[in-house]
Amino acid sequence: MSIAQKKNIVVLGSANVDISAQTPVFPRDGETVTGDTVLVSTGGKGTNQAVSAARSGACVTMIARIGNDFFADIPRALYEREQIDTRFVSRDPDHSTGCALIEVHAGSGENRITVIPGANMTVTAEHVAAAEAEIAAADILLTQMETHPDSIQKFLELAAAHGKKVILNPAPALPIPDSWYPMIDTITPNETEAEHYTGITVTDDESALKAAGVFAAKGVRCVIITCGARGVFCAEFARDERGAVTPVFHARILTYRVQALDTTGAGDAFNGALCTALAEGRTLVDACRFATTAATLSVTKRGAAESMAKRDEIDALYNRFYHAGKAITPMARRLAQENGLFWRALEGTGENGTVTEADVKKAIHHPMV
Ligand code: RIB
Repeated sequence: MSIAQKKNIVVLGSANVDISAQTPVFPRDGETVTGDTVLVSTGGKGTNQAVSAARSGACVTMIARIGNDFFADIPRALYEREQIDTRFVSRDPDHSTGCALIEVHAGSGENRITVIPGANMTVTAEHVAAAEAEIAAADILLTQMETHPDSIQKFLELAAAHGKKVILNPAPALPIPDSWYPMIDTITPNETEAEHYTGITVTDDESALKAAGVFAAKGVRCVIITCGARGVFCAEFARDERGAVTPVFHARILTYRVQALDTTGAGDAFNGALCTALAEGRTLVDACRFATTAATLSVTKRGAAESMAKRDEIDALYNRFYHAGKAITPMARRLAQENGLFWRALEGTGENGTVTEADVKKAIHHPMV
């Protein structure tokens, strides 16, 4: 894709140095366990999402703050490698660069993260206002909850003033003022965050739609709830002149199960790629498919920003996952549905490549990309 064809995304967000180690077991209080392979690399939800957007095919401008320490060189070098515009990445003389201490379970790839925000919390409304021209010219805007709330508020206000769509990934789960919701086009919580913000435990499509309805009632147009290995639930809402909100569309996008090596930044991979796809004008469902594929690829590599997939890889796996015209026997389809398995990704061994019950059973017992 040439630079001219690429869409412009402005990301307001955090820049961290992630110090990550694999552990065979998460230690309990007072316990010492022996881990493996320390990785020092770039993280921060904002930076991870910016890298995902850039690698998946967008031109990215970053608004962030790094500290005045040697850690700052780590995200800086990454931005340069990824050709991310850093004109609005500034140094804070009084704070250290954000840092995250991460334990990754060697068996499941699940993680536990402690973040020390440092310079991320010194991003002010003024830093965001400095990028107003870029915001006004962007195809889509993306932010999370890891910079100072004043900066997020300004970002939303400028987006509204210039008629731009903002995607808010409400992570980590922190208070959101009610005044923000009408300025958010799309919100992308995971199930835990959806429960935090709406009070509704998301277990299935019915509860996901209810939780999405709570966001919609507050003013959000589109809600995407990421559900890990159970894929993604998305819903769009319409509001009539009297303010009544009704869902106009909802769907679940299933994903293929993989052996996860490191799930750190999987949600960020999703959000960055989602923005690229939406900016390119792809439909909500198709954008979710593209983004889910990017997230799936990211968990097969270690690290956060460095684990983000490139466009070629995403396209190749997307085509394999979502290959149209593939057939499945009725019994096999039922079995796949019962197990939340994305059958289109399977190699069919039946006639003309039809997916059979045996293919589905094999995938359930031996999940892999
Ligand atoms: O979403 C993962 C990210 O959360 C990590 O990279 C870490 O820095 C924290 O911000």
